Amino acid sequence: MEKLIDNHGRFIEYIRIAVTDRCNLRCYYCMPEEGIEYVPREHLLHYEEIERLVRVLAQMGVRKVRFTGGEPFIRRDVIHLMESIAAIPGIEALHITTNGTVTRPFIPQLTNLGVKGINLSLDTLDPQRFKEITRRDVLQDVLVTLDELVDAGIPVKVNMVVLGGINEDEITTMARLAESRPVDVRYIEEMPFNGGGHEQQLTWRDHRYILGQLTSAFPEIKPVKAEKSATALSYAIPGFQGKIGIIPAYTRTFCGSCNRIRLTPEGVLKTCLYDRGTFNIRDIMRSGATDEQLKASIRDAVAHRAKDGFEAEKQGLQFPLSSRESMSTIGG
Ligand code: GTP
Ligand code: 5AD
Ligand code: SF4
Repeated sequence: MEKLIDNHGRFIEYIRIAVTDRCNLRCYYCMPEEGIEYVPREHLLHYEEIERLVRVLAQMGVRKVRFTGGEPFIRRDVIHLMESIAAIPGIEALHITTNGTVTRPFIPQLTNLGVKGINLSLDTLDPQRFKEITRRDVLQDVLVTLDELVDAGIPVKVNMVVLGGINEDEITTMARLAESRPVDVRYIEEMPFNGGGHEQQLTWRDHRYILGQLTSAFPEIKPVKAEKSATALSYAIPGFQGKIGIIPAYTRTFCGSCNRIRLTPEGVLKTCLYDRGTFNIRDIMRSGATDEQLKASIRDAVAHRAKDGFEAEKQGLQFPLSSRESMSTIGG
């Protein structure tokens, strides 16, 4: 069995697939409120193309697939794509990152297809604040989804983007979600991918600050071992059912063990969240490439990976376009 190894000796075992750049929310750290230019539907990778790509990647050693977006459940019939991807030999784990607003009806099918985990974006427990951050008034839908996912026995991680001066006073309250339920709560450093919606705030909060807040509130918080390739620094608080995670997404301390590549809705393969993309898989598929040719292009991209997010960012500076990308096209 082939293994996909990059030019820095890292095994690539995980692909994050953004199935759409569309979303029913407008989180202000992700996209502007208005004037968004969505990818025209005909430019999206078709489901058969995504399936073919994952089959090929599974033959190259990829084991884990995460569906992201935009909001993945906004794309029509995405549940059928998920079912077919889960059935591909070699794919051991299917995960999803969702905003939880329209996820609820799919829980039975997700359980049946054996989803390994769902990461739920949730930045506040206050309805008014939720409306300010996401520009939509649907907190209740997300909370119902959270409870139903837990009841269905699906492992859940709550993702909170920490926004200085906006929701940082909820760091402690959000942690308590992990006390009463078996869910992990993770705090994410804000990254500057918001589609030009706003400037990075002056009160940007880094992972050390977040840990400081948690330590003040929960002096017994202790670091625990996480998977080698994890993005989150992991902690336990005595008496809590779930774990606490802090993701230094902008400080980028975890690049040395990065095991993932990304696919944008239009089919661009990204070997780092911070790069500008390597090549368009849709184009080479539609020009008649064989599986072997696809594999060769993937191997080549992986053999020229930046060593970390800083190097990837620097290389991208020569391209003037899309310096202010939205997280919805990158897929988080
Ligand atoms: P697990 O697979 O459960 O560990 O989740 P994950 O952290 O890989 O995925 P998720 O979609 O929940 O992402 C959580 C946060 O981590 C988001 O803000 C992502 O943008 C960020 N993130 C995920 N992968 C990377 C990465 O490779 N580099 C950086 N800098 N951030 C990442
Ligand atoms: N910075 C950090 N995280 C972000 N996300 C979306 N935009 C940003 C940003 N600018 C998060 C979402 C989701 C995950 C995939 O990425 O909240 O949980
Ligand atoms: Fe939608 Fe997620 Fe972006 Fe919010 S962060 S607008 S939920 S894609």
